[in-house]
Amino acid sequence: MSGNTSQLKVGDKTVDMAIKEGSVGPAVIDIAKLYAQTGMFTYDPGFTSTASCESQITYIDGDAGVLLYRGYPIEQLAEHGDFLETCYLLLYGELPTAAQKADFDYRITRHTMVHEQMARFFQGFRRDAHPMAVMVGSIGAMSAFYHDSTDISDPQQRMIASMRMIAKVPTLAAMAYKYTVGQPFVYPLNSLDYTSNFLRMCFAVPAEEYKVNPVLSRALDRIFILHADHEQNASTSTVRLAGSSGANPFACIAAGTACLWGPAHGGANEAALKMLEEIGTVDNIPKFIAKAKDKNDPFRLMGFGHRVYKNYDPRAKIMQKTTHEVLNELGIKDDPLLDVAIELERIALSDEYFIEKKLYPNIDFYSGITLKAMGFPTSMFTVLFAVARTVGWIAQWKEMIEDPSQKIGRPRQLYTGSPKRDYTPIGRR
Ligand code: SDX
Repeated sequence: MSGNTSQLKVGDKTVDMAIKEGSVGPAVIDIAKLYAQTGMFTYDPGFTSTASCESQITYIDGDAGVLLYRGYPIEQLAEHGDFLETCYLLLYGELPTAAQKADFDYRITRHTMVHEQMARFFQGFRRDAHPMAVMVGSIGAMSAFYHDSTDISDPQQRMIASMRMIAKVPTLAAMAYKYTVGQPFVYPLNSLDYTSNFLRMCFAVPAEEYKVNPVLSRALDRIFILHADHEQNASTSTVRLAGSSGANPFACIAAGTACLWGPAHGGANEAALKMLEEIGTVDNIPKFIAKAKDKNDPFRLMGFGHRVYKNYDPRAKIMQKTTHEVLNELGIKDDPLLDVAIELERIALSDEYFIEKKLYPNIDFYSGITLKAMGFPTSMFTVLFAVARTVGWIAQWKEMIEDPSQKIGRPRQLYTGSPKRDYTPIGRR
């Protein structure tokens, strides 16, 4: 998009740089030629002021607490659609017609089984392996099984790899869970919808009939919608960087899964629940608020704060509503963890420190309570995040691969190490 220019004075030089406007949100200053014109780099660890790409997939207005997938507000998609509709929207840019939705559901449903030899692949893990370790390994291992969809220059193979990952990652996630609890793997059942199928693969046992609870399935499907994509977050940026080298799609999504695992990112849902359990009761809250505010204490309120949202994360609001829905459906009248979470939020949001730093609950604050109530162990929370985010990673990877201007990502640095010096033989050190 055209726009005016900005000027930068560097020593006795004045450098003109184009300003590019988006459709909504902040404009960007195109600094691509800065090094060639000035011999200098920009410096922005953590990329707090750096746009790494142009994208049309997800838009976040952090000050207003707005999240749009292809222009549609997250609240409306979560209310009216299902997760596979959101997958279609993120991948193709438009909401599907009834026929397109039926075809997409059919194609995904018929890719849910994994190569039978992958079951043996799992046997190599220790039973007490963290399910995210299993996911990083098994998603990466998909490139050892699906060679016919690893040629990224072939649109047909890119599409098949995309379908396979959206369809098979839930199966691998359920297998990762079953493996850690020592129960037999449960095959997908094509007669079930995507999320009901996932719940059954996780919780069904051969010894008895498993009946999917439609309220829980709808709630988890909505949770998947909330987690599906989020612009250029750390794991998505990892997928884009891995993809920029031409790595196969399964390897790129495995890289994103590895990055998501960190407690500052997707691992925060697991960390937030552990924090709520550590706080234990409402009267312990002030002690933890003080720790979070203490500059000398590395403790942070997990599930609080966000690089982009300086207002309430819109997903957290929907998450909180879903938590109440699930607890009611399960007849859990008073969940001490929820009491702690609600009181912690109330106290934090009225505390000067959190107000001044614009720290609000993010998507990870309430999700753990809901997932625990549904029967998932804490170690599976980030796995569920990865199941949902797989489509976002793929949509972003697809957009990058199809961008004719894309090139390998290769940031520079500010070097503060030793200048050139000669080797000293060991006898003279
Ligand atoms: C996700 O990027 C995405 O979009 C991610 C995500 C997605 O959908 O992909 O939304 C998913 O990762 C959500 C975030 C989950 N992480 C957590 O809940 C972990 C706890 N939160 C923080 O670690 C932190 O808020 C981050 C990592 C989320 C954001 O960190 P930033 O943007 O680098 O902010 P910062 O660390 O510079 O903090 C700014 C200030 C600091 O104080 P000062 O040094 O300026 O005095 O706020 C403080 C921080 O100490 N602060 C907190 C805090 N978060 C920030 N203090 C107490 N508790 C917290 N949670």
